[in-house]
Amino acid sequence: MEQLTLRRPDDWHLHLRDGAMLRAVLPETARHFARAIVMPNLVPPVVTLADAMAYRDRILAALPAGAAFDPLMTLYLTEGTDPADVAAAAASGVVKAVKLYPAGATTNSASGVRDLTKVMPVLEKMAEIGLPLCTHGEVTTPEVDIFDREAVFIDTVLAPLRRRLPELRVVMEHITTEEGAAYAAEAGDGLAATITTHHLIINRNHILAGGIRPHYYCLPVAKREKHRLALRRAATSGNPRYFLGTDSAPHVDALKEHACGCAGCFTATNTMPLLAHVFEQEAALDRLEAFASLNGPAFYRLPVNEGTIRLEKRPDPCVWPEKILSEAGPVTIFNPGFPVHWHVVA
Ligand code: NCD
Ligand code: ZN
Repeated sequence: MEQLTLRRPDDWHLHLRDGAMLRAVLPETARHFARAIVMPNLVPPVVTLADAMAYRDRILAALPAGAAFDPLMTLYLTEGTDPADVAAAAASGVVKAVKLYPAGATTNSASGVRDLTKVMPVLEKMAEIGLPLCTHGEVTTPEVDIFDREAVFIDTVLAPLRRRLPELRVVMEHITTEEGAAYAAEAGDGLAATITTHHLIINRNHILAGGIRPHYYCLPVAKREKHRLALRRAATSGNPRYFLGTDSAPHVDALKEHACGCAGCFTATNTMPLLAHVFEQEAALDRLEAFASLNGPAFYRLPVNEGTIRLEKRPDPCVWPEKILSEAGPVTIFNPGFPVHWHVVA
């Protein structure tokens, strides 16, 4: 029987939502993860320090009794964001990053940024105080093919921004392409990239071949197989630039299985067994701890977690429910389509 003990992991990109959905999904993350960078794309979004403090209180109130989980809050960058509020948010210790959504790029991004020049004073303040910018790295230009939006974002938005403001610390969130992985590998110390669980497992055929599978649809959308392989090489490389951000993004089934279905894969429940499976396939089990538990805190300048998580490989497959039930409706858990023999045992 193979065993694996890791420092307790963190999730550096997570959607917890609010209300009934928050209550349903939070225990799934808190079971394995000590901390998470909590995305601010609520309706209305989490824009100010006051919004973030109130949202953090709601998260803490929704925690199951006895659970130890520290939500690391983010602010949603808008063209009206006040640099002084961002500085106060960073100083409070509650807010660990600011999130850039290009307007219209993904779920609840309508209040995002249309013109980067409008937010330069905020970005300059962030560069000065060392507060990271988390980027949803896709352009929204209708002329740009959806499968090219990440690569075009790097060339036309991210690279120019970093030339203009080299001190700005940046996280490329949920990279999905070999271009994204290569850019992160070559960038300086102030840049890192998160990689999701599902982008290590699915390519675009999984979404589209043999029938449309809405539970595999997320943004950025999964790309060709060569990109999935590049992400696997990056995640398992041990390079401190890459770390886990599940982008676990729950939507009720009624909105996923819909004529205009929502984007998002829900992986909070089974991410750790799935990652152990992937890292074993890549003969890199010894690098899983770096990816899930060490590289993230190093970039965010936080201590690593004290506790540990233990996984065990067993002959019987790991089982999880097909769905979790929220008062808002059922949410389908990401199904990798193959048996997984790694179990979280402690
Ligand atoms: C996220 C969501 O549902 O909030 N969806 C997704 O497909 N990842 C938004 C996002 O991170 O793009
Ligand atoms: Zn996300």
